[in-house]
Amino acid sequence: MHIKSLFLKNFRNYREEEISFSEGINILTGENAQGKTNAAEAIFFLCTGYSPRANKDRLLIKSGEEQAEISAQATSSYGDVSVKIKFNKADKKNIFINGMQVLKIGELLGNINSVFFNPSELKLVQESPEDRRRFLNVSLSQMSKSYFYALLRYNKILAQRNNLLKDPDVSLIKDTLPIWDEQLSKEAGKIIKARNDFLLELSPIAEEKHALLSGGKETLKMKTESGYYGSEEDIAFALFSDLKTALERDIRLGFTSIGPHRDDIKFMLNDMDVRVYGSQGQQRTVALSLKLAETEIFYNRFNEYPILILDDVLSELDKKRQRKLVGAVEHLQTIFTATAFDRTIFRDKSFTKIVIENGKVKSNKKFSTPLENK
Ligand SMILES: Nc1ncnc2c1ncn2[C@@H]1O[C@H](COP(=O)(O)OP(=O)(O)OP(=O)(O)O)[C@@H](O)[C@H]1O
Ligand SMILES: [Mg+2]
Repeated sequence: MHIKSLFLKNFRNYREEEISFSEGINILTGENAQGKTNAAEAIFFLCTGYSPRANKDRLLIKSGEEQAEISAQATSSYGDVSVKIKFNKADKKNIFINGMQVLKIGELLGNINSVFFNPSELKLVQESPEDRRRFLNVSLSQMSKSYFYALLRYNKILAQRNNLLKDPDVSLIKDTLPIWDEQLSKEAGKIIKARNDFLLELSPIAEEKHALLSGGKETLKMKTESGYYGSEEDIAFALFSDLKTALERDIRLGFTSIGPHRDDIKFMLNDMDVRVYGSQGQQRTVALSLKLAETEIFYNRFNEYPILILDDVLSELDKKRQRKLVGAVEHLQTIFTATAFDRTIFRDKSFTKIVIENGKVKSNKKFSTPLENK
């Protein structure tokens, strides 16, 4: 799958601009604060309906403007697809796929798939379990609408259950909860099963990618800590019974203390917890390995690679790792952003250099032979 062009209107610092991309490696380059990350962000937004760095759509609208419009033309094995999103200050999105409006975010997912990585993804390893769950949720939602809808339903029931737990009338809680819990466990079964399968598949590939990037010096292992295994039904059944056991505690706490909203993943390098003992560079390599592994899972499931967006990643790696990274991504469409880069990292590979200046494309040129590669 690859994106051919991106159109931006009143998006961040872009007034109205179109950016063309090539298959393979693309580099959005230019000085600081010119709009490189903004363009990368727009692509991911068109894939998932959400920005990796702003939690409100209105922040994405060019200041002083009322509404923004972005669109992309992409090609996949199913043919060409165009995705357009218009949104306004009221955070209302209008989504169009091939010119037809769709009413749910779920209908947007899966049209163009991408994996996004930027330096703040380090929090995937460093920070709270919530960041790791978000990784699972974003990846799995792009891969499976049924996961996305199960998650929506789960969160809705969970919010209702938590509200009920705060009710002073304990007998009302005890009468009502079994109905909520049955539905909650059913959705949780789907979510946990999908996460277990995903991590089982991801883990050995992430290990491989990590060995590649780190030169094979360290072995990465991943562990999930949900404690629920087996089929969706097995998981739902076990969770339903654990919810019953946890009821007194949940009433005391006023929220639901078990379930997929509390899951975490542990990353071990040579048997040491990366979050606790890992260096900054090790944590970065683990996070990057996970994202590279994620592209392979897309391939395993859909026979097609997603678009890989690597924002500001090159500057954080030494030349040797930069070369390894380039070697590891040349088989899919990759969009790098970088203020500066050393062309020697591409050796004999072709790449497209797109210079962004103040929300405009200043130049867009493909370098295809080593001779041109100067
Ligand atoms: N809603 C908005 N309206 C107008 N301009 C915006 C908006 N949001 C961000 N900007 C501007 O976009 C610019 C930053 O763009 P971006 O993050 O893409 O920079 P960059 O080229 O990736 O730079 P760097 O190399 O520092 O990462 C800033 O000048 C910022 O003020
Ligand atoms: Mg940037």
